Amino acid sequence: MSKPRILVQFDSDPHASLFDAVVGVDCQVDHLLQYSSVQREQVRDLVHGAMFTRGPGDLHNTAIFVGGSDVAAGEKLLQAVTDCFFGPMRVSVMLDASGANTTAAAAVLAAARHVNLADAEALVLAGTGPVGQRVARLLALGGANVRVASRSKEKAESVCRRLRDQNHEAQVTGWSTASPAETAEALRGASVVIAAGAAGVELLPEETLRGARDVRVAIDLNAVPPLGIGGSNVMDAAVERHGVVCYGAIGVGGTKMKIHKAAIKKLFSGNDQVLDAEEIYAVGQELEDA
Ligand SMILES: NC(=O)c1ccc[n+]([C@@H]2O[C@H](COP(=O)([O-])OP(=O)(O)OC[C@H]3O[C@@H](n4cnc5c(N)ncnc54)[C@H](OP(=O)(O)O)[C@@H]3O)[C@@H](O)[C@H]2O)c1
Repeated sequence: MSKPRILVQFDSDPHASLFDAVVGVDCQVDHLLQYSSVQREQVRDLVHGAMFTRGPGDLHNTAIFVGGSDVAAGEKLLQAVTDCFFGPMRVSVMLDASGANTTAAAAVLAAARHVNLADAEALVLAGTGPVGQRVARLLALGGANVRVASRSKEKAESVCRRLRDQNHEAQVTGWSTASPAETAEALRGASVVIAAGAAGVELLPEETLRGARDVRVAIDLNAVPPLGIGGSNVMDAAVERHGVVCYGAIGVGGTKMKIHKAAIKKLFSGNDQVLDAEEIYAVGQELEDA
């Protein structure tokens, strides 16, 4: 008889994310085990508890979800988890701290519905945050020339260096968007713009977008007014405004949720899945192709 499915949440926050717990339950896991305030040094013993209790043939029924609001902390936890694995002794694991991987995947998939990424010039406004960095990483993976924008060009260039370290073929350049004139300049020639700025901050005024003749798709991930892209609507899902196909944060959110659920289900397809940005994007691509 098959063992019950156990999803173990490793969360760096004092309370493990209720959002992630609900999604886990909605994916029909039999047991959800939650660990909060998890630190890197504690991971080894926890993973051993998951790895050594069931035989190798049953390990596909145990999986780990790494979450929490701190994406950098989540990355360290994921690394600590995979460092514990050897041979067949492993369980599947997924990183989606702060929803950054699923959100970035949904945004880039939305863009890919309207432009061929391999030919695209793409601007990521606030490409320095955890979500923006992943958006830039996935756009570069798709072959786009990616402009990573920030209020600080130095910060943007530092992100570009990190992206090139991860993917030597990434075509990424750092841009300053500290003033409206610089934002307009960064938009020149871009067919895709994705705004990944902090909640409640407008990064792209409506008139600047209207003046950008090459933009075909504009995606805003900020759901909190004022929105990141002026004149857009949080519910937009492929709504055409002045010749630009627009998506708002909730418009992208439906795809994000589908990707999150499909990724959780994929964890239980074997005991060797390690789902970070690229793998979660691939899950989204499978959904688009279905
Ligand atoms: N739909 C969803 O399910 C979902 C899930 C997760 C996140 N989100 C949304 O995605 C967006 C990005 O998330 P995140 O966690 O990456 O955001 P974040 O870390 O809070 O901020 C991202 C970037 O915004 C810029 N920024 C911050 N304050 C600013 C200000 N006052 N003026 C101009 N720029 C400012 C900063 O870039 P520079 O300092 O480099 O300029 C920062 O790196 C947020 O709006 C978040 O709410 C949506």
